[in-house]
Amino acid sequence: VQTSITLPEHTEQWTTADREYMTRALDLASLGVGLVSPGPLVGCVIVNDGAIVGEGFYVFEELKHAETLALAQAGNAARGGTAYVTLEPHAHHGRTPPCTDALIAAGIRKVVCPIVDLNPKVSGKGFEHLRAAGIEVSTGLLAEEASILNEAYLHHMRTGLPFVHLKLAVSLDGKIATRTGDSRWVAGPESRARAHEFRHRYDAILVGAGTVAIDDPLLTDRSVGRRRRPLVRVVLDERLEISSEAQLIRTASDSPVIIFAGLNSDRSKINQLTERGVEVVVSDSRDFKSVLQELERRSIESILVEGGASVAGDIVRSQLLDKVTFFIAPKIVGGRDALSAVGGDGIAKMADALELETFEVTQRGRDIEVTGYPHKQSSS
Ligand SMILES: NC(=O)c1ccc[n+]([C@@H]2O[C@H](COP(=O)([O-])OP(=O)(O)OC[C@H]3O[C@@H](n4cnc5c(N)ncnc54)[C@H](OP(=O)(O)O)[C@@H]3O)[C@@H](O)[C@H]2O)c1
Repeated sequence: VQTSITLPEHTEQWTTADREYMTRALDLASLGVGLVSPGPLVGCVIVNDGAIVGEGFYVFEELKHAETLALAQAGNAARGGTAYVTLEPHAHHGRTPPCTDALIAAGIRKVVCPIVDLNPKVSGKGFEHLRAAGIEVSTGLLAEEASILNEAYLHHMRTGLPFVHLKLAVSLDGKIATRTGDSRWVAGPESRARAHEFRHRYDAILVGAGTVAIDDPLLTDRSVGRRRRPLVRVVLDERLEISSEAQLIRTASDSPVIIFAGLNSDRSKINQLTERGVEVVVSDSRDFKSVLQELERRSIESILVEGGASVAGDIVRSQLLDKVTFFIAPKIVGGRDALSAVGGDGIAKMADALELETFEVTQRGRDIEVTGYPHKQSSS
């Protein structure tokens, strides 16, 4: 699978035990999903004499990093041991003291870590600090898995823009709704449950005004997992036509809603929505990059786009799409006027189609999930 960063060279032959410890560290890191953004997911396992003596994972609010938690659990047993950490430990004073200091002070002999942190304050400096203190540092083990786990964080660090994942449910003939606009439900319950897992991983969810008008969705995270920040609900509504009775507006005081409206939007409607707790951003909302920049300014580093066709068309054209998921249901909708998944003008030549560079296919109940990473122009 494509990773967002250049992977370090594999520096040694890994043992089965190394793989197991790093897999455990990655599993621990993923327990922080929903609890770390805008920071990275990090897990740590301390091993000594062939046994796990300490474990930890990062949770933003607890002000303790994975390494510190694992070292505290290990106590004296950390001395002479190996730390398996899923992301480069930081060597600077941030919200917490440097983790490299803690690893050195605890007498760790070796650090196994798959990837560098792309945060410029950390990048490379953590490994340097450990090596300067005489600790052996091995990189590259399960680097692909570690990069995917933090794909949104790493992308944001690399580009300064939020990571964008487009998710749609389509029929076998590529329709996202019938000719009347009915789309409930294209896909089955297993795909819908998976879509809720996605919502839990993202900082924001984005749809077009057409989807709000027809489906009147709530766009909330209904997974069972906890999250430290509410899912921000974003609507692209050039003509600011959203009904004040829409569920999104009625629930705006419970969970944030941001509407991107065009420059000619009606002032009194903006005031009305603002009074209901909605943030209206008046801008050239057709410029998707500027939408992303506005959201990034609000500390949003990842966005799940859930349609509809017009928004999907704009985003595909913008080339600012980082990941896609299509749930393909085994049904045929038909009809010239039934919406196809991706709107806009499309392309003239098949050779210009946006191709997935890497992808995975998974059965979800009766549906098929295709999740992959589009080929990117080198400039993006
Ligand atoms: N199966 C699925 O997964 C799925 C998911 C979502 C929706 N749907 C279905 O899709 C249908 C809605 O799709 P749709 O294509 O009609 O509507 P849409 O993409 O949800 O929204 C279109 C509206 O958004 C505005 N818009 C689009 N891009 C914009 C941008 N960059 N900035 C500002 N405004 C922007 C458009 O303005 P202009 O009119 O000015 O262009 C238009 O008013 C519904 O039937 C819904 O049920 C299906």
